[in-house]
Amino acid sequence: MTTNIAPHGGTLINRIARGHERESLAEKARTLVHVPLASREVSDLEMIATGAMSPLTGFMTQDDYLPVVDTMRLKNGLPWSLPVTLSVADDLAPTLRPGQRITLTGAGLPLAVMDVVDVYRRDKRKEALEVYRTDSEAHPGVAKVYEQTDWLVGGPITLFARPPHETFLNYRLDPEETRAMFREKGWKRVVGFQTRNPIHRAHEYIQKCALETVDGLLVHPLVGDTKSDDIPSTVRMECYEALLSRYYPKDRTALTVFPAAMRYAGPREAIFHAIVRKNYGCTHFIVGRDHAGVGDYYGTFDAQYIFDEFEPDELGITPMFFDHSFYCKACEGMASYKTCPHDAEHHTILSGTKVRAMLRDGIEPPHEFTRPEVAQILIHHMIKKP
Ligand code: ADX
Repeated sequence: MTTNIAPHGGTLINRIARGHERESLAEKARTLVHVPLASREVSDLEMIATGAMSPLTGFMTQDDYLPVVDTMRLKNGLPWSLPVTLSVADDLAPTLRPGQRITLTGAGLPLAVMDVVDVYRRDKRKEALEVYRTDSEAHPGVAKVYEQTDWLVGGPITLFARPPHETFLNYRLDPEETRAMFREKGWKRVVGFQTRNPIHRAHEYIQKCALETVDGLLVHPLVGDTKSDDIPSTVRMECYEALLSRYYPKDRTALTVFPAAMRYAGPREAIFHAIVRKNYGCTHFIVGRDHAGVGDYYGTFDAQYIFDEFEPDELGITPMFFDHSFYCKACEGMASYKTCPHDAEHHTILSGTKVRAMLRDGIEPPHEFTRPEVAQILIHHMIKKP
């Protein structure tokens, strides 16, 4: 029997109440103070409850928040690169007390209880500068931080109702389930692939290069909140399905969704993406060019360099780094700056802006850039859009 990689911190957290406990918590929750969560926080809540964020058992207390911001470590020393926090309204914060149990709601629905450990103020500018390496409000992740109050509430949570989902119901596998799937398939070494974009040929190339050396590939697109000009996850899923059914080996590829919201935190988010994929059971994780980046806030390979700040056994999961990949007409195949000796004139490299303009005009990008099946879905989406 294949065994899975150990989760971060050693234990797969499960904070989902079941049976009688679930009923009694839901009942009790009605009488408690209700604290509304933004949609990103609902995604985080669900990931904490399912163990995707192991070893976190709740939203961060100040003891964890401060070292995470300063040193990318939890107070117990384990690597952790992004704050996972719950912000509360200025008028509500001073009324909450340590030891109090509160109800966390999403879109008005009671979902979980939290046992409050502390209520504290944070320095948002410092958080932005440390985590996002900029305090510019033009950065979409920083803008989200600045939208929130200074007040955070931390403590363990217990989920008694899953946030209702209308999309991707067959693809929403929890870490326990992806782990079971890998065991059933007999995959010892599994590479995880994060994406918030349609899969173009460069993505496909690096996935398949990685798959050459492991047993299985988990395509794990992020389907939580993204910025408004990213392609919606529903359209992307159509692209992934079309692509995987035609071009990927069925017995070595799995597609499930990653419920997180995008932070666009580049290097720090790459560490977070890797650790969380380990919790889903991946042993390897792909980091290509400008992973989780936006604009020009990060150097093209900063998200790879940051892995050197940790000892490999502290992270547990093995990163697989890829150089900028493209089709080269002289090589007559996919390649990267690492493997191709030819000049730029031979390379098919298109900017995101150029590709969007082509699709909007109903023009398929070259097939060596995007598979025609994917291009057709994207053209349909772009043309439909006003
Ligand atoms: S991300 O925000 O989720 O990182 P995207 O979906 O574009 O954005 O990228 C998914 C993964 O593919 C990331 O690891 C990224 O670094 C990698 N990647 C994207 N395009 C290329 C490319 N042309 N060459 C090499 N790696 C790439």
